[in-house]
Amino acid sequence: MTEILTPRLMLRRWTDDDLVPMAEINADPEVMRWVGDGSVLDPEQTAEAVERYEEEWDEEGFGLFAVELLGSGELIGLVGLSVPEFLPEVLPDVEIRWRLGRQFWGQGYASEAAHAVLEFALQDRGLDRVVAIAHIGDRASANVIGKLGMVPEREVSHPALGVPLRIYAIDLTEYRA
Ligand SMILES: CC(C)(COP(=O)(O)OP(=O)(O)OC[C@H]1O[C@@H](n2cnc3c(N)ncnc32)[C@H](O)[C@@H]1OP(=O)(O)O)[C@@H](O)C(=O)NCCC(=O)NCCS
Repeated sequence: MTEILTPRLMLRRWTDDDLVPMAEINADPEVMRWVGDGSVLDPEQTAEAVERYEEEWDEEGFGLFAVELLGSGELIGLVGLSVPEFLPEVLPDVEIRWRLGRQFWGQGYASEAAHAVLEFALQDRGLDRVVAIAHIGDRASANVIGKLGMVPEREVSHPALGVPLRIYAIDLTEYRA
């Protein structure tokens, strides 16, 4: 069982109890604005997505963590690593991704979890490079990416959606948590 504790958060694998709170997060158009084509997900789509996250963990040895608030035990969203299959040109690089419920924005939780995920990628999984792929205009993600020390490398067009994306990267051998 892969778990990471940070001062305020627990990052862990997914359970059935996460499906309802994650479906609430995925049903919020503000949360989903910069995710894929911006569509919200219904509970069935959320359950399918969580199943894919767990499959990725089993296949790759890394994946998207369920992020729980210590103390209250609430699920606040997801942060973790993923193979960006939608963008074949960056493979075999692994991406870092995040999505928190709106009430959990602006408290430093995404950055706290993301720092722990980069450390996990380097120290636990031995990855030497991680990318972030953000829609141009997604300023909240760009802010987190900057705080992680990730640097912009290039702009590309989303193969399926045709919208502009910016690719950032960090060499983890130079990363200091
Ligand atoms: C992208 C997203 C995860 C960023 O979350 P966030 O809460 O803005 O990010 P952070 O964790 O870095 O917190 C931001 C702010 O919290 C504030 N904050 C409050 N308490 C804090 C604390 N104890 N420590 C650090 N920051 C704190 C800071 O002011 C910080 O802003 P700053 O960097 O300008 O100083 C969030 O906006 C989100 O889930 N969006 C929807 C999904 C999405 O777009 N995902 C990406 C596309 S796939």
